[in-house]
Amino acid sequence: MTTDLRRSILDAIAHDGGNVAARLAAQHGVSRQSTSAWLAKLKQEGFITSSGVGRGVRYQLAVLANVQHSYERAGLSEDRVWRELAGPQLADLQPNVRDIWHYAITEMVNNAIDHSGSVQVVVELLRDALNTTVYVADEGEGIFLKIQRALHLYDPREAILELAKGKLTTDPAHHTGEGIFFSSKVMDAFDIRSGTLHFMHDEWGADVLLERPANAPGTLVLMRLANNSARTLQEVFNLFAAPEEYTFARTIVPVKLAQHEGEKLVSRSQAKRLTMRFERFQTVVLDFAGVEEIGQAFADEVFRVFQQAHPATTLSPINMTSAVENMFKRVMKR
Ligand SMILES: Nc1ncnc2c1ncn2[C@@H]1O[C@H](COP(=O)(O)OP(=O)(O)OP(=O)(O)O)[C@@H](O)[C@H]1O
Ligand SMILES: [Mg+2]
Repeated sequence: MTTDLRRSILDAIAHDGGNVAARLAAQHGVSRQSTSAWLAKLKQEGFITSSGVGRGVRYQLAVLANVQHSYERAGLSEDRVWRELAGPQLADLQPNVRDIWHYAITEMVNNAIDHSGSVQVVVELLRDALNTTVYVADEGEGIFLKIQRALHLYDPREAILELAKGKLTTDPAHHTGEGIFFSSKVMDAFDIRSGTLHFMHDEWGADVLLERPANAPGTLVLMRLANNSARTLQEVFNLFAAPEEYTFARTIVPVKLAQHEGEKLVSRSQAKRLTMRFERFQTVVLDFAGVEEIGQAFADEVFRVFQQAHPATTLSPINMTSAVENMFKRVMKR
C-alpha cells in the first residue's frame, strides 16, 4: 500500500467513519473486496479500529499515543512538561512539526503557570495516524474574566477581540502578549474555552467567538496539528513581521469580533474599542469579512480620527462589501 493510498484511506475515515469500504471503492474505482482488504490491513497494523458489523461497521482512527498528567502549578516549569510528557511522544515527527509543538505547548503551559492562579495544571496529548491534539487545562480565574478585569472591559467577549489583535498582556513587566497570538496561528485548530465563551481559530485562519451553554471554571486550551504539516514557525512569524525586520509589527484584526450579536458597527465607542492598542503596530490589516455595513461615525473614528492621532500606524482594510467601502471612501475624502 503506497503512502498516498494509506493517507487517503485515513483521511476518509477521519472525515466520516460510516460506509467507508463503499465510499473508498467509489472514490478509487475498485471493488469493495479490495477496499475491505485495505481496511483489514490498516486495522491489523493498528492504525484504525472498528465497531459494529456488516454494513453498519464504523471505522475510527486508533489512538496511537495518549498521555496525561496533572501537575502542581507551584514550582512547575513549562520545559519539564515538554521534556517529560510531550517531547517523547513526538520524537519521530519532522523537525518543523516538533518545533511548532515545542513552542505552542511551552507557551500554553507557561500561561497556566504565570496567569491562571490554579492549583493544578493538567496536560494531555493524544496522537493518531493523522493528527496530534494537546489539551492544557487549569482551574484558575479563567482567561476571559482575567483580561476583562485587567483591561476594565465592559464585556468578557471583548477579551476575544483583544486576544485576536495580539500584543495583549496583563503582565507587561514579564510578558509581551505573543503566546496565544502565534500559537493560535501555527496550529490547524486552536480553541480556548473558559466561562461561557469559546474562542476558536479555525482551519481557514478566522478567529471566531462562540457562546457555550456550560459555564466551566478555569481555562481549557485545545490545539491540533497534522503530524505531516509542512508549516514552519518562522513562516508564521514572518507573516506578522515588518519587511526586513524580525519583530511583531503587523496584525490582522477580524472586525466582526467587535460586532456583538445583533449589533451594527455605528458608534464612535465601538470604533474606539476596535482601535484600542492599534498604535502598537506598524500595520493593522482590518478584515471586514462578515461585516455587511458600517456607520458614518464608526468609520470616521477609525479611518480619520484614529489615523490622524496615530499617523505611524497604517490601517489597511480588506474584504469590504461595497457598503463598507463606500463609507470608507466617504470619510477618507475629508
Ligand atoms: N491560563 C490562563 N488563565 C488566565 N489568564 C490567562 C491564561 N492564559 C493567558 N491568560 C491571559 O491572557 C493574556 C495573553 O496571553 P498570551 O500568552 O498571549 O500573552 P502573555 O502570556 O501575557 O505574554 P507572552 O506569551 O508573550 O509571554 C495573558 O497576559 C493573561 O492575562
Ligand atoms: Mg503567554
